[in-house]
Amino acid sequence: MPVFQIDGEPVEYEPGEKVLSAALRCGKIIPHYCYHPGMSIVATCRMCLVDVIDLGNGRPAPKLQTACSVDATEGMKIETFNQKVEEGRKLVNEFLLINHPLDCPICDQSGECTLQDYSFKYGSGKSEMDYSKRVNGWRDIGTFVALERNRCIQCSRCDRFTREITGTNEFGMFNRGHELAVDTYTDRPMTNKFQGNMADICPVGAITEKEFRFKRRVWKLKKNHSICTGCSTGCNVTIEHDRNEVFRLKPHENQNVNKWWLCDEGRLTYRKMNEKKSRINQPLGLIGENLEGISWEKAYGAIAERIRELKPLPQEVLALTDTHASNEELFLIQKLLKEGFSSENIFCPFPTWEQSESDFFINTLITTDKTPNRAGALALHIKGDLKNTKLKKVIEGDLKVVFVLGNPFETELEFKEIIKRTQLVIHIGVFHNSWSEIADVVLPGQFYSEKEGTYTNKNQRVQSTEIAVKALRRTRPEWQIISELSQALGHKSSFESIPQVFNAMALEAKAFSGLSFDEIGGLGIGLTKKTKDSGKNVVPEFVTLK
Ligand code: SF4
Ligand code: SF4
Ligand code: FES
Repeated sequence: MPVFQIDGEPVEYEPGEKVLSAALRCGKIIPHYCYHPGMSIVATCRMCLVDVIDLGNGRPAPKLQTACSVDATEGMKIETFNQKVEEGRKLVNEFLLINHPLDCPICDQSGECTLQDYSFKYGSGKSEMDYSKRVNGWRDIGTFVALERNRCIQCSRCDRFTREITGTNEFGMFNRGHELAVDTYTDRPMTNKFQGNMADICPVGAITEKEFRFKRRVWKLKKNHSICTGCSTGCNVTIEHDRNEVFRLKPHENQNVNKWWLCDEGRLTYRKMNEKKSRINQPLGLIGENLEGISWEKAYGAIAERIRELKPLPQEVLALTDTHASNEELFLIQKLLKEGFSSENIFCPFPTWEQSESDFFINTLITTDKTPNRAGALALHIKGDLKNTKLKKVIEGDLKVVFVLGNPFETELEFKEIIKRTQLVIHIGVFHNSWSEIADVVLPGQFYSEKEGTYTNKNQRVQSTEIAVKALRRTRPEWQIISELSQALGHKSSFESIPQVFNAMALEAKAFSGLSFDEIGGLGIGLTKKTKDSGKNVVPEFVTLK
């Protein structure tokens, strides 16, 4: 790769790459507002001024240049911190603050505002302007975001977002000069499904998320990398939380999955992470007519004893799972059936799903499969078909033991009616549902924000989640529950951690062969062997997803 210099240090660049882009890629800091790597370059904010002391031909540029719009060239030398640059930045910063209210203490962006940060770092701390500030006021611009126009520094990121990223052209810049203001067209609120991204890319507190406004100061939030489980795309997110309460999901850049974006529906899935009322918060056993709290040891012991009494044949054992379960959980429950009962009766729902086809990448994110791990279930050969024909046959036979993981087949009431009569039903899950109502033993699991795991997205990319918040005291992660249950039943495999389960899965399951947990990292890794998904339908752009 060709090389140029920033502050005396060599920086590699791709031919045609701009100075700012190459600098950011190499971890160099050049302050900027209007530049965004996913959108066109407008060079309007002027904050990224740098001094080109050598254009690559031995001659300097005649004046300060905007790093976001200048091509890097071989032999070019840039200075980002000399007196000329500092004075230029000070003036730009002062200019941007002419109309910006100094209301940081009551602004929700405070703490993550680049105008605030750059003013502290590069600003002059005073203003020469004694005119009164422009007043534009607050606007309700959409279901997900609000606009405080007085704070706008006219970087045009929001305008470019609806033109270039969603293609909806709902938002723009009106009037000129001192009167210039951002707003929706014809005063109508925006309807695009990706409005939260506008709050993310707005460098100041002009566009903010309604869902998060005034709930927590951002410097209190702790952050963990994870994925959104709102659909099978598995967009990369940062879970932001404080005192064990989750406040928001923010996009985590992954060019192979969601680039910089998230949909609004996905952002709202954080609410489920705080759901406590419907949680199963301790192991339960059927005592008489009622489910009552019991210890883990008693629960495992009772299951093992009952299974010893029942001596089920392979065809008399069934496991049902949903595709919210992680790869490891699916692998372990499949292993439990195989090793413990020589049974392959493990089923999950595989309804058809739709994927939008669009010239605008962001529209291809949302799918109608609202589960995160259908591809993982397919890769592990969990059984299932569109009409549940095979499962019906198994259910209509004689069943003695049924394991239910999560909330599969939730609308199939007749399945539940039949399974209810089975001699032993074990439900492993996070929330109370109609399966826990008919179970003999209920084992409380943990929500994905409380445990580690990996999920395979619609493009067959394996991605991992971190523990963000503490789980309820008497719950356990499902992989651990299944592993402990196996041991209680006298099976030989036992697992101590998610990496250990994943690596065992890579040895036994072809689709995962050759992968190791450490390779997944923050960006995920593709499955070794791709599986065909016959339930996928691609629908053309502008057809409304069901
Ligand atoms: S509202 Fe925010 S993103 Fe839009 S132009 Fe103003 S400062 Fe930039
Ligand atoms: S597209 Fe799917 S995975 Fe991505 S944020 Fe939306 S719901 Fe979540
Ligand atoms: S980032 Fe370069 S001019 Fe705005």
